[in-house]
Amino acid sequence: MTPTGRDVACKHAHIEDVTRSSTARTDWGKWHRAYDDPVSSLSRRLDAVRRLIGDCLAAAPEGEINVVSLCAGDGRDLLGVLEHHPRRPDVRAQLIELEESLVDEGRRRIDQLELEGVTFLKADAGSRATLGTLRDVQLVLACGIFGNVAEGDIRTTIYGLSVLLAEGGSMIWTRHRLAPDLTPSIRAWFVAEGFEETAFLAIADSSASVGSHRLVVKDPTRALPRRLFTFIGDGADGLC
Ligand SMILES: C[S@@+](CC[C@H](N)C(=O)[O-])C[C@H]1O[C@@H](n2cnc3c(N)ncnc32)[C@H](O)[C@@H]1O
Repeated sequence: MTPTGRDVACKHAHIEDVTRSSTARTDWGKWHRAYDDPVSSLSRRLDAVRRLIGDCLAAAPEGEINVVSLCAGDGRDLLGVLEHHPRRPDVRAQLIELEESLVDEGRRRIDQLELEGVTFLKADAGSRATLGTLRDVQLVLACGIFGNVAEGDIRTTIYGLSVLLAEGGSMIWTRHRLAPDLTPSIRAWFVAEGFEETAFLAIADSSASVGSHRLVVKDPTRALPRRLFTFIGDGADGLC
C-alpha cells in the first residue's frame, strides 16, 4: 500500500538533529558561484524560478501576500523579482537559511533594495520549531531541496506544505532529472496531497527542472509534521 503523507511524516519524525545532516559539511557559498555565469544551467534555472515567482505574485489576490522561502540560499530568486515587481509593497516574506554567510548576503541585499516587508532568518527550515507559527502562506519556495533529501522527506515536505499554504496558495520547487528521474513521482505526490500542477519546466540542455503547484483542496485537519526534511545531499550534482 502506498504510504500517506502522514505515514511518511511519522516514519521520519525521529530525525531532529540537523547538525548531523550534510549541511554542516557542505560549502553552500561555493555552490552559489555557479550563478556568476549568466548562462550556466543554474542561472537558467534561476530565470525560470523568477518567472514563476513573478506570475504567482501577479495572480495573488489583492492585499498582503505572505511568502516563505525554505533553504533560501542568498535569496536571489525572490529578491531579484521583488526588485521590480508591482506587487512588491504587498509582499511579506520570510526567507529561512542555515548558512550564516548566505543569510548575511541576503540581509545586505534586502537593505540595499529597501524591502521593508522581507526578513531573513538564520534557522532550520526543516523543523516545526521554525515553521510552526506560519499559516495561510500564499507562496512557498522550495528550491534546491528535493535533490538533497531522501524520497520520504520529499513526500513529508509536500504534506507539510499543504498545512502551511492557504487554499489557492502556490509553491515552486526544483529537482534535477538525473536517473532515476524522480520528477514524475514528485508531480504525482503533489496531486495526491490536493495540489494541481500549474507549471513544469525542463531547463534546456541540462538536467534541471522547476515545478509549480497550487493547493486546490485544503484539509484543515492536517497537522505540521515535527520534521519535514533533513539534507543528505551536498549539492554535488549542482542542479538539486
Ligand atoms: C542547493 S542550495 C539552494 C539555495 C537556494 N534556494 C537556491 O535555489 O539558489 C540549498 C541551501 O539549503 C540550505 N540548507 C540546508 N539545510 C537547511 C535547513 N535545514 N534549514 C535551512 N537551510 C538549509 C543550505 O545552506 C543551502 O544554502
